[in-house]
Amino acid sequence: MRIGIFDSGIGGLSVLNEAYHRFPDEEYIFYADTRHVPYGLKTEEEIKGFTDEIVKFLIGKKVDAIVIACNTATSVSVEMLREKYDLPILGMEPAVKPAVENAEDCDKRILVMATPVTIREKKLANLLMRVDVKHRADLLAMPELVGFAEREDYESDAVKNYIRKQFSEIGATEEKYSTLVLGCTHFNYFKPLYREILGEKMLLVDGNYGTVHHLGDVLGLNIKKDADSKIIFNQPQDIVVGYHTSYYESGDEITDNNRLSKYLRMLNRLEFVRNI
Ligand code: DGL
Repeated sequence: MRIGIFDSGIGGLSVLNEAYHRFPDEEYIFYADTRHVPYGLKTEEEIKGFTDEIVKFLIGKKVDAIVIACNTATSVSVEMLREKYDLPILGMEPAVKPAVENAEDCDKRILVMATPVTIREKKLANLLMRVDVKHRADLLAMPELVGFAEREDYESDAVKNYIRKQFSEIGATEEKYSTLVLGCTHFNYFKPLYREILGEKMLLVDGNYGTVHHLGDVLGLNIKKDADSKIIFNQPQDIVVGYHTSYYESGDEITDNNRLSKYLRMLNRLEFVRNI
């Protein structure tokens, strides 16, 4: 099967990496809309326009299904895209349901981080109404975190201070929260920092596994036996030839090893933080 996966930028690589673990034999087209990142600070109209272009582009590449590896784009566009196009279009939403289920026997609260657009869209409010019946989730917008990820700045004092400041503004401590939901695919890169700031016991929940699992169900794919064994990406061609993937940035295919090295580094980072 040929699967299109897109995001505003490099956040969606976390979904691609999860797909490599489970379905390494499929063919992938990864599309980062680098010309328009970050979506989380754009208008609805703009995001609808960008995502429509991307879906048209991917359909032109004859994909069998599309994964919107972006919570922001999903919350604004998924319904419009599903109405307009015939193929399976899977979206992502903050993994509040598994977080609530997991924290059933614990009286601490759940912190859901996302982009400003995801936080203000109705889709998240509706999700909370459905799954957070005891009103245990609090929402926190992280408008600058996507920029840090795009600059591959995962560990600097600047990003640490930013996360600390955002947490302290709403009084987020390990005494108050048991669970942190990463409601934006770009937020995966910073997992070690959340632990450093909120403690080793904090449960970090993202939507990657659920999304890829759903993709497998929709396309009838068989999960690889040792799906959780570590992947090491050594050179750019590993992520292109090895995993049958074409990489695009806002419509331009990335083929030179220099530029592919960025994707290689990021996939290795995601592999490093995957089970943190
Ligand atoms: N990665 C996207 C998400 O999951 C958002 C990034 C952006 O703001 O562009 O929400």
